[in-house]
Amino acid sequence: MGRVLSIVSQKGGVGKTTTAVNLAVAFARRGLKTLLIDADPQGAVRYGVGLRRGHPTVGFDDYLRGEKALREVILPTALPWLRVILAGSVSESADHSDFQHRVGESTVLADLLAMARERCHVVVVDTPPGLGAITRRVLAASQHVVVPLQCEPLALQTTPQILRAIQDVISINDELTLEGILLTMFEAGNPASERVVHYVREHLPQHLVFDTPIPRTPATADAFAAGQPVVLRNPADAASQAYVNIATRLAERLAERFA
Ligand SMILES: Nc1ncnc2c1ncn2[C@@H]1O[C@H](COP(=O)(O)OP(=O)(O)OP(=O)(O)O)[C@@H](O)[C@H]1O
Ligand SMILES: [Mg+2]
Repeated sequence: MGRVLSIVSQKGGVGKTTTAVNLAVAFARRGLKTLLIDADPQGAVRYGVGLRRGHPTVGFDDYLRGEKALREVILPTALPWLRVILAGSVSESADHSDFQHRVGESTVLADLLAMARERCHVVVVDTPPGLGAITRRVLAASQHVVVPLQCEPLALQTTPQILRAIQDVISINDELTLEGILLTMFEAGNPASERVVHYVREHLPQHLVFDTPIPRTPATADAFAAGQPVVLRNPADAASQAYVNIATRLAERLAERFA
């Protein structure tokens, strides 16, 4: 039985999708059979995971509405061990309320994740920002969660909120382990960025914060703009190496729990 790892944060734009995509790729390159699911109706995974030009854009929403079979929405990627389920048609429209309602009010997501666990080693789930109905459904069916925290001044104000939210989340599902807070977009030498790292390390238990921050690098942003995961496009980049390092540690922890 595989494990479900969700990427969740209160705030938007902190690097969730970048983290989900690059961890999924790094797991697949280690030979773990990996499925990446985009549960965010914004559908950003589609632009960053390196699908071929002209690939189908169907996904979770189309399966949810009964318009596509599961096998039609599981898309192959450039990596043999990585498959992806995009958000699907919902990402084409500005109104996501129906999708949120459908996911929030049904057990389809939990059923899908349970099924995926039967066939994969790791199921990585990208979520929308905040702890709304979709994210709560994802967390209720996950065994592991990583919380990216962007190294910018606002992080200092939102950290207590994040901690409360995590406690809240763990109480939903006693199978769930917070694997750690992942500091993202770290800029060495930038006092504001260094302050965040220092503050977080001082105020949070050591085991709750990954000791490798993900640096902010031009290659990461460029890779996303080019539709490729940075760990594939630019493996020597510092952010790629940090993601591979985190994936290695997570893979070891997850592997202890494969049944
Ligand atoms: N390590 C990094 N270095 C440089 N740019 C980065 C890095 N990580 C993320 N970014 C950029 O920051 C922006 C936000 O990242 P991303 O889309 O992954 O965040 P998100 O948390 O998924 O956002 P949302 O809440 O909207 O889903 C993107 O433009 C991405 O390319
Ligand atoms: Mg995102």
